[in-house]
Amino acid sequence: MVTTATASRTIAIQPPPLHDGQRQVLSSSARFIVLITGRRWGKSKAGALWLLDGAMGPGAGPGTVCQWVAPTYAICKFGWRELVRLGQQIPGATILSPRRPTVDSLLMLPNGAEVCLGSADHPDSLRGEGLTRVGVDEAAMVPQAAWTEALYPALGDHAGRAMLISTPKGPNWLQKRYLRGQDPTDPEYQSFRFPSDSNPYLNPAVIEAARGELPDMVFRQEYLAEFIADGAVFRNIEACTRVVEPTGSIVVGVDWAQSDDFSVFTAVDIATGAVIEVERINQLSYSIQVDRLKQFCNRVGAIMVLAEDNGPGAAPCDYAAEAGLPLQRFTTTASSKPEIIGNLIAAFDHQKIALSIPDEHLLEVVTTELQAFTMTRGATGSFRYSAPDGMHDDCVMSLAIAWEAKRRGGMVWEVF
Ligand SMILES: Nc1ncnc2c1ncn2[C@@H]1O[C@H](COP(=O)(O)OP(=O)(O)O)[C@@H](O)[C@H]1O
Ligand SMILES: [Mg+2]
Repeated sequence: MVTTATASRTIAIQPPPLHDGQRQVLSSSARFIVLITGRRWGKSKAGALWLLDGAMGPGAGPGTVCQWVAPTYAICKFGWRELVRLGQQIPGATILSPRRPTVDSLLMLPNGAEVCLGSADHPDSLRGEGLTRVGVDEAAMVPQAAWTEALYPALGDHAGRAMLISTPKGPNWLQKRYLRGQDPTDPEYQSFRFPSDSNPYLNPAVIEAARGELPDMVFRQEYLAEFIADGAVFRNIEACTRVVEPTGSIVVGVDWAQSDDFSVFTAVDIATGAVIEVERINQLSYSIQVDRLKQFCNRVGAIMVLAEDNGPGAAPCDYAAEAGLPLQRFTTTASSKPEIIGNLIAAFDHQKIALSIPDEHLLEVVTTELQAFTMTRGATGSFRYSAPDGMHDDCVMSLAIAWEAKRRGGMVWEVF
C-alpha cells in the first residue's frame, strides 16, 4: 500500500500484488538501487511503483519532484502507463498527457509533489536540479553522460535516490554500478539481478520458446540477465563438423569480394542444414566470377541463389540475373546483418547446422573465420558482429547468407 498524508486526510491506493523479487527490491533502503533482470520480469512495473512511493511517501510534498527516465519517450511508455494507472486511483491527482509520454506528461499529486518524464535522447528534458527520486528504465541503453552529468548531480541537492532498471547490455557504466551494489562495503548502492523466470506471472512457455530459438548468448543476456562480455560468438564448431550425405534441395549464399577480399559461394542442403560445398575466389573480373558461380550452382544443383546486392554486389548481381541464375537479392544493412548472423549463431548453438565441406583446406578457412568472428557493442548496447581487424569475414557472411536462403526455404517469389 502506498500512502500519503495531505493536510486533511491519508490517501491509500492499492498497488498491484508484487511477486517476491519485486518485494525484495522495493524494501531496499539504499540510496541507489540497481535492478538488473531478464525481459518481462516486471521491472518497469516495480520501478514505477517505487517512484510513485517517493512522491507520496513520508516527507513528500510541494517541491518534491520525481522523474521517470528512459532512452526515448517511446520507452517511457511502460513506466508511464503504470504511473497513470496508479495515479488515476488517487483522489485529487491531475494527469497531463496521460496517453502519450512526452516532455509535457505530468502527474500532479494532491500533496503538491510531481512526477514528470525525461528522455535521454532529449537531454533538455532531464531535470538538471532538485530531483527527489529518479527511475531510469532500460538504463543500459541510456548514455553514461545522462547519468553522470545530468541525473546524478540533480539528485545532489536533496540527497535524492535513484533506481537504475535494465536488462543487461554487457560491460558498461551500468555494470560498474551493479558491481558497486554487490560490494558490502559500499552501502550507498544495492543491486539485484533476477532472471525472467522468477516472475511467477510470466508463462514459462514463452521463455522455453526463446531458449530454443535465440542464440545462446542473446538468451543468456535477455532472459537470464547475464552481463555478456565481447568476444567470440560461434560455439560448437567442432561438434557441427561432420559428414552428411546430401538429400534435398540446395541453396547457395554469395558474398561478393570487396577490393582485396574474396568472393565466397556456400551451398547448403535445405533438408539437413549441411554445408556441402564452398568456393572462394578473388582477383577475377565480375564476368568470370559469375561464370564460376554458374558452374558452382550447376555442380551442386542449386534451386536458389541468395546474393548480397549492395556494396560491391550490385554489378555482379545484375550479371548473375542476366545469366539466368535463380537469383534472390540480399541487402546488408545495420539491421539485416545482425539478424542473419544471429540466426547462424543460433544454428551452431542448437547444432542445426553441419559443416560437411569435402575440401579440407576450405573447411579450415571457414572454421578459422568462424572461430575468430567477434561480437562488440554498439552505442546503445546492441550486438555488432565482425571479423577482428585484419581478418576476413567473407566465408562467415557467405555462410550466413546461405543459411538465410535455407530459412527462406529456397522459395523464389516472382513479383509482377
Ligand atoms: N506483480 C505483478 N503482478 C501481475 N503481473 C505482473 C507483475 N509484475 C509484472 N507483471 C506482468 O509482467 C509483464 C512484464 O512487466 P513489465 O514491468 O513490463 O516487465 P519488464 O519491464 O521487466 O519487461 C507485464 O505483463 C506485467 O503486467
Ligand atoms: Mg520494461
